[in-house]
Amino acid sequence: MFLLMMSGGLFLFAWLFLALPLFRKSRAFLPVTLALLVLAGRDLFFYLNDQPWYGQEYPLWANMLSSALFGALVIVAILSVPWAILFGIFRLLKMEAIRELRGGLTFVLILLSCSAAFFCVHQGYSMPSDINYTVGSMMVPRGFDSTRIVQVTDLHFFKGTSDRRIDDLAKRVIAAKPDLILFTGDLVDGTVGQRSAQLRRFIDDLKKGCSPRFGMISVPGNHEYYSGDYAGWMSFLRDQGITVLENSNVKLTAENGDALYVAGVTDRAAERFGGEKPDFAKATAGIPRDAGVIMLSHRPYRPQGTFDRAFLVFTGHTHGGMIPGVDLIVKYENEGYVSGLYHDYGRSLIVSNGTGIWSGFPLRLAPHVADNVIVTLKSENTLKHR
Ligand SMILES: [Fe+2]
Repeated sequence: MFLLMMSGGLFLFAWLFLALPLFRKSRAFLPVTLALLVLAGRDLFFYLNDQPWYGQEYPLWANMLSSALFGALVIVAILSVPWAILFGIFRLLKMEAIRELRGGLTFVLILLSCSAAFFCVHQGYSMPSDINYTVGSMMVPRGFDSTRIVQVTDLHFFKGTSDRRIDDLAKRVIAAKPDLILFTGDLVDGTVGQRSAQLRRFIDDLKKGCSPRFGMISVPGNHEYYSGDYAGWMSFLRDQGITVLENSNVKLTAENGDALYVAGVTDRAAERFGGEKPDFAKATAGIPRDAGVIMLSHRPYRPQGTFDRAFLVFTGHTHGGMIPGVDLIVKYENEGYVSGLYHDYGRSLIVSNGTGIWSGFPLRLAPHVADNVIVTLKSENTLKHR
């Protein structure tokens, strides 16, 4: 229903704003209307055809082209608000000369939006840059001092993800010399049959390039549920030697015997697919009250009246808001969180922009670009960002 409303709304807007005023008296009116219908209805078309869903089975070039054209429509829709206000002011000031230029200026707006959309898609598929945080807490035992954690999230591997890109992404993680690798969901778009070779290649690269002493731990994202093969993906990850947390926790033990716990929850998309919804109390059950807890959750969240055990939380899902305008929707949909390091409720919450980008809307504009989150733990009450 959401897709139907979004596609319908975008088409209606584009038709009223672009086709009707500019092409009404032209032979191009019908072809332009049809083209807008196809572009605006792209996601709906993918959805109704079931496969390929959101273009995940298209090659990279086809995905980039259709995404840029669809993105141009979205950008025009965003810009139309200040555009309408501007021409409203011209009307009030009776600046008829400028008002008569409206048609030509609208063409310029469309051209700029198309250029911006192609640039945003290029940025969307650019490699992540390292972002380093030092997180100090009294809850970090001495045995975990200087532990390096790398977060991998929102890889969104699809058919167009090349082996070279997979290898390059793995190299970024390996270069950070991780003691612990945390996966926070949305690793793939597709079934195990469609995507396992790509994810296996990535994990094999990691295993060959580094051996994190505290291993690799994962929680699911909404796209693991959307894949239609949730159980298959969870057992695939376990078969690769990754600890999968579904409202559960795992104890890490340092060489000196100190303990730290990593807890992880499922994603709220579980409810739509008959799975277990996120349960923070269950995820932290059995952990001693004085122990330090790191929480993994695909989406950022505000603790809702319950005591949150974690001093550090890793999340993703937002893609950093992607582009201005869309980031406001992302913020609204994610309880006020969009990107970066937040300090609230006595915890440090990291919202990664994502190591990759979803092929359904692969547009980004700096500073909303992909990141490779590297955290160094400190067993003291200091917290720096560098
Ligand atoms: Fe997600």
